[in-house]
Amino acid sequence: MNIRVMRVEDMMGMQACNLQNLPENYTMKYYMYHAMTWPSISYVAEDHKGRIVGYILAKMDEESLEPGKEPQGHVTSISVLRSYRRLGLAKKLMLQSQEAMSKVYRARYVSLHVRKSNRAALGLYRDTLGFTVKDIEKGYYADGEDAYSMRLSL
Ligand code: ACO
Repeated sequence: MNIRVMRVEDMMGMQACNLQNLPENYTMKYYMYHAMTWPSISYVAEDHKGRIVGYILAKMDEESLEPGKEPQGHVTSISVLRSYRRLGLAKKLMLQSQEAMSKVYRARYVSLHVRKSNRAALGLYRDTLGFTVKDIEKGYYADGEDAYSMRLSL
């Protein structure tokens, strides 16, 4: 499995991976915004035939880049196809993105939202990567579920 930075031509494969795994879906324009505006912090995992089996879609918080503020990265979405899970791919995708946020944009923090019920993702963020819960956002998701707003200091 190879992990590399996202390219524009990966968007269809990323969207397919997103649609299979998550109810939070995005327009092509939104994938394009990430690829064009923050080209070095979103990554894909591909199999030996170049098929996308996982991705991390990330951006910088635009307000945090204003003078006097602390730059903050944000993970919009991460997902790994079911048959490729528990191989460490999500951990690698997160670490690559975090490193790029820090190096390229001098990010001091990275933030994300996750469903309170998402045990696998919580295990990844809290136990493996060291994120902490900053806040609970009531009814954040379209179906009314609460989100943990999580943050990691880089
Ligand atoms: N149960 C408990 N802990 C888990 C699980 C699980 N099912 N899966 C991963 N973890 C934790 C473990 O601590 C694991 O370390 P270990 O294997 O040494 O025990 C650690 O995360 C790293 O696991 P990876 O193998 O890197 O994770 P994986 O590649 O399987 O991907 C992911 C994890 C992305 C959450 C995957 O399950 C997935 O795609 N789920 C559906 C989509 C999703 O929920 N995405 C996150 C939404 S929130 C957001 O996008 C900001």
